[in-house]
Amino acid sequence: MTPLTQTPQWPALGAQREALAGRHLNDLFVADPRRFERLSLRCGDLLADFSKQRLTAETLALLVKLAEARDLSGFLRRMASGEAVNATEGRAALHIALRAQRAYRAAGRDVQPEVDATHARMRTLSAAIRSGDWRGSGGERIEAVVNLGIGGSDLGPRMAAQALGEYADPALSVRFVANIDPAEFADTVRDLDPARTLFIVSSKTFTTQETLANARAARAWLGDADPARHFLAVSNNVAAAQAFGIPPENCLAMAEWVGGRFSLWSAIGLPLACSIGINAFDELLAGAREMDEHFLSAPFAENLPVVMALVGLWNIDFLGAESLAVIPYAHRLGLLPAYLQQLEMESNGKRVTLENREVGCATAPILWGMAGSVGQHAFHQIFYQGTRLTPIDFIVPVGAAGPEQEALVANALAQSAALMKGKSPEEAKAQLLAAGKSMAEAERLAPHLACPGNQPSSTLLMPALTPRALGNLVALYEHKVAVQGCLWGVNSFDQWGVEYGKQMARDILPKMLSGEGEFDASTAGLLAAIRAMRNA
Ligand code: F6P
Repeated sequence: MTPLTQTPQWPALGAQREALAGRHLNDLFVADPRRFERLSLRCGDLLADFSKQRLTAETLALLVKLAEARDLSGFLRRMASGEAVNATEGRAALHIALRAQRAYRAAGRDVQPEVDATHARMRTLSAAIRSGDWRGSGGERIEAVVNLGIGGSDLGPRMAAQALGEYADPALSVRFVANIDPAEFADTVRDLDPARTLFIVSSKTFTTQETLANARAARAWLGDADPARHFLAVSNNVAAAQAFGIPPENCLAMAEWVGGRFSLWSAIGLPLACSIGINAFDELLAGAREMDEHFLSAPFAENLPVVMALVGLWNIDFLGAESLAVIPYAHRLGLLPAYLQQLEMESNGKRVTLENREVGCATAPILWGMAGSVGQHAFHQIFYQGTRLTPIDFIVPVGAAGPEQEALVANALAQSAALMKGKSPEEAKAQLLAAGKSMAEAERLAPHLACPGNQPSSTLLMPALTPRALGNLVALYEHKVAVQGCLWGVNSFDQWGVEYGKQMARDILPKMLSGEGEFDASTAGLLAAIRAMRNA
């Protein structure tokens, strides 16, 4: 396939960039009064407004042609047909099958039976735990479920459990431990009773250092409680779970065609199902399914994940954006940026294509963010008067009217508008004069109050933060990532880089403990300083 930067669309998009270079977003709205209608899209109850992005309908049409030139349709067909699109691990990427109501096949086998069987076990287990039918080894009902997992085995269910807190059963505390730092485990279980606590060891490989350390800590904390009453496991490696001491009837399988960061919908979602109940969990699946059906059927120019992916590629590869800020204007979505960090940066933080070529352009952005309106009082200054182009995704659950909620939504719209519009030096000067400053003072201060504006943002509106809306939202980002990976030509479904980091830790740890071994000068110097600190 023609390398991305050698397609005919690539220089045409470069010409678009030059044509738009001198035009401010304010000019684009003046030039096209129907800009909002032309550049906003819907899927179900979700509305995505891309009109504050620095492009025109003509730019978008060219980006769609780029997607066609990269055979996006063929990629989607291969992914949905269960082909090994994860070519470096020889696996399919069929997370859509986890929330589907139709048959999917992986490696020539219908996957629906295993999906349905696992879902049935999630239904039974979560109901038993929530109803009190599941008893601890001393006969007490379970009052706390603690998930032990990290990365995709933690971030998704942890984020969703917080996001859907209003659907949680107050009688059951669902908590998460990920870090190998023993402080997290200690802090999490400090107020819990071992007799009434159930651990879910979530690990696709069941080899992850942090998770196994926490599983051992849990076993010690439980004392002589029967593991069969206080441990469940979610893994693709059931044998290792059993070797740890978790009986097979307590293990839920995770298919090898489910990537860790795409696994919220699988048995990895069990702690979430325990928190909100299987019916609300099924609503989450329904929201993702609704986005899947839109993604796999809508023409690219009206396809929400495709357009979002193309807008992101435009910002990164033509406008030079290095990062993407995700700012959910909802306290309970505060963990969404952390979840999306793994989804986007572990998927597309790559430089080599599946054709073993350098990609030839920038790939995944540095994704960051925090809940609004708090971020306004932390980092929004850099958006207004800094020197960087920083695209923002504002995510706004509208929610029921009420004074605080109206103020929250108003802040989201105001930030997006102010960052687009900016404030000219003349406007700043007029503001200062109106405030009673002398002409000399106003002229001195105006440059410090002026904001260039022209900062691009997308705004995603949803009626409320419901399980269905969250399913829409997460599936939207999953598909956006897959589309960008397809255009860049990288494998969005492996993570060989982090495997190297894990290997380095495995090399250093025993040498740290023994005090022997060859290190680079920096590591050697640091180890010597650590020993000195310990001895002081
Ligand atoms: O960060 C590397 C990684 O392999 C992720 O891809 C994965 O979600 C996480 O570690 C945990 O892996 P496991 O579920 O196998 O414990």
